[in-house]
Amino acid sequence: PEAAGFGDLRAYIRDIPDYPRPGIVFRDITPLLLDPGALSAAVARIAAFASARDVQFVVAAEARGFILGGALARELGAGFVPARKPGKLPARTVSAEYILEYGVDALEMHADALAHGANVLVHDDLLATGGTARALCDLVEQLGGHVVGCAFLAELSFLGGRERLAPFDVHALVDYP
Ligand code: PRP
Ligand code: ADE
Repeated sequence: PEAAGFGDLRAYIRDIPDYPRPGIVFRDITPLLLDPGALSAAVARIAAFASARDVQFVVAAEARGFILGGALARELGAGFVPARKPGKLPARTVSAEYILEYGVDALEMHADALAHGANVLVHDDLLATGGTARALCDLVEQLGGHVVGCAFLAELSFLGGRERLAPFDVHALVDYP
């Protein structure tokens, strides 16, 4: 019910041309976060995609993946596992590298974060090239977890991230083709 009435959530995502570089249109989700109803609808709709999948943990990457990730875990009755930039997590970690437009970066997750065979929903605010989400899936699989789906608020489908995440099931509330 609270998911209804907010229509296309695209109306709450604003375009910032030429940020962070000329030629890039940044899809800014902060207006959606400001609106309690739109925020609640976004969490409810992402949770609806995952609700039949017996999700035990939500895995998300810093920084923007953390915003809805905790709310999503709460909505699904799941735990939350943070993936962070190298050196930020205090205990023993596993690591996955991913390719950026210029160079390589990595994400880490605590090595004891997931029970073997645990059902995991991978979440981020936005799917672009898929490098970040692919690294999250790799981390889950390194720990013997089972990725039951990847869910995003927004997707830039012209960048082919969905193909990069195959064969995982990908869901996004708003598409920018
Ligand atoms: C953005 C976004 C995703 C990622 C998507 O994060 O929040 O995590 O890019 O891009 P990809 O599909 O090409 O990997 P960013 O790296 O800007 O970091 P932030 O969350 O700290 O802002
Ligand atoms: N992350 C990667 N590309 C992005 C874009 N165009 N807008 C917002 N976040 C992004």
